[in-house]
Amino acid sequence: MRTVAKAVADRGSVLHTVTAIAGDGTVAGFTDVVVPADGTGDGHGSGTAVLATHRGHGLALWMKAESIRLVRARHPELCPGC
Ligand SMILES: CC(C)(COP(=O)(O)OP(=O)(O)OC[C@H]1O[C@@H](n2cnc3c(N)ncnc32)[C@H](O)[C@@H]1OP(=O)(O)O)[C@@H](O)C(=O)NCCC(=O)NCCS
Repeated sequence: MRTVAKAVADRGSVLHTVTAIAGDGTVAGFTDVVVPADGTGDGHGSGTAVLATHRGHGLALWMKAESIRLVRARHPELCPGC
């Protein structure tokens, strides 16, 4: 994730990642949104995955919802009218 975040930063954008952590401390899933560095224009979903053993419990839905909430709070000028 850090490697991808750096590659995105090198292209002039910001990668926002929400990660779901299982009870044993391992990563159960993640979702990404890429935002232009100046926080204007459109963001776009980059990737979403949930480990097979954690699927079907709403994790992707909750991570997506949290991702949208965080990105809109951090970049209020993003995607006007969305
Ligand atoms: C797609 C994926 C992220 C879903 O994760 P998940 O935590 O099991 O999903 P959720 O439990 O939050 O499901 C939320 C809703 O999406 C639906 N859904 C889940 N996977 C789906 C799929 N592959 N296609 C269509 N709908 C799907 C669920 O049925 C659920 O709808 P419902 O509330 O009406 O029942 C997971 O299956 C995965 O990691 N797949 C491999 C990677 C991938 O395809 N990523 C997406 C492209 S980047």
